[in-house]
Amino acid sequence: MAKMTSQDYIKREDKYGAHNYHPLPVVLERAEGVYVWDVEGKQYYDFLSAYSAVNQGHCHPKIVNAMTEQANKLTLTSRAFYNSVLGEYEEYVTKYFGFDKVLPMNTGAEADETALKLARKWGYKVKGIPQNEAKIIVCNENFHGRTITIISMSTDPDAYSDYGPYTPGFVKIPYNDLEALEKELQDPNVAAFLVEPIQGEAGVYVPEDGYLKKSYDLCKKHNVLFIADEVQTGIARTGKMLACDHEGVKPDVLILGKAISGGVFPVSAVLANDDIMLTIKPGEHGSTFGGNPIAGKVAMAALDVVKEEKLEENAERLGQIFRDEFNSIKSDMIELVRGKGLLNAVVIKNKEGKTAWDVCVAMAEAGVLAKPTHGNIIRFAPPLVINEEQLRDAMNKIKEVFKKFE
Ligand SMILES: Cc1ncc(COP(=O)(O)O)c(C=O)c1O
Repeated sequence: MAKMTSQDYIKREDKYGAHNYHPLPVVLERAEGVYVWDVEGKQYYDFLSAYSAVNQGHCHPKIVNAMTEQANKLTLTSRAFYNSVLGEYEEYVTKYFGFDKVLPMNTGAEADETALKLARKWGYKVKGIPQNEAKIIVCNENFHGRTITIISMSTDPDAYSDYGPYTPGFVKIPYNDLEALEKELQDPNVAAFLVEPIQGEAGVYVPEDGYLKKSYDLCKKHNVLFIADEVQTGIARTGKMLACDHEGVKPDVLILGKAISGGVFPVSAVLANDDIMLTIKPGEHGSTFGGNPIAGKVAMAALDVVKEEKLEENAERLGQIFRDEFNSIKSDMIELVRGKGLLNAVVIKNKEGKTAWDVCVAMAEAGVLAKPTHGNIIRFAPPLVINEEQLRDAMNKIKEVFKKFE
């Protein structure tokens, strides 16, 4: 049988898979560290990292070993029984992030849903909000996942159109707007403010310095929970373990996903202290796979790697080099460069019909993979294990691409 080409793989996905994504025409087969290879054997730098899930680099041996070792021993018990890993993981992850308790889930969206339920429960049981009156403040242009409740919070028509009726109870305010937040916090039925410390999916919008701290303080003043969705910004991506750490903010509820497993296995987590977490009682929330032993072992290994390989420092240092290098490119297609650590975006100005998509296709040909978001924004988020030589090599390839468009 003739070897399948990339086109064959693409056609097959197109024929049998739902069309809910629009991937770049690249078919990947294997990966290691910052590199991925397609089915033709071409090597690329991965500058997406599975939307910041692969911060520790692809197929990190320590994480993969943790997974395979546990997979040969015990994979899933459900929470109907105790297992020998979950408690170890719970102790590890709560000490790592400094919270009393963790509630383990699998995907980011599930963790966000969990945080919303937790906030409502706390609102009724602790704050004393009248039943079914709780409100949660969210930000315009947010991205928290794809469930019906989560898209009910969305202001992106692609995310919410034709999926109504929507879940009530959300108040939407502009991002990075403390006045709007303070105004909505006057309502005594507000249980929580849910915020991304940097809006990743929206196009890496970094709020003004002080926004998180001031939002947190306002929430405290009004007895409202400050919930940080760090699914994309967490685990060293922005140059600190959590993006909230840049402002010394400790959220009441912390949502983690993606890189908590190094992209090896779906693991997500909600962390909070007892006064909040213990409002949920046995039988009131759960997940068949949440807290499974593979997830626990994988997450511990992945979080070990972040510290052992000093990924925070690397993201901070190389992020600065990335932005400096990009700002030095002379191209009228580059409108601006923004970001923190190794979570960055470049806003592209269309030129003679050429768009951010065309830039990404040309970068792929040159050996660097990145993906446009919202039409004209390209997000650049390499694995945090990238070294300076690799970053500069990738930047040279990117520069050549922009030269071609001149
Ligand atoms: C901030 C944020 N929250 C939640 C999610 C949803 O995560 P998942 O795709 O694992 O459900 C994402 C995914 O991009 C995200 O960026």
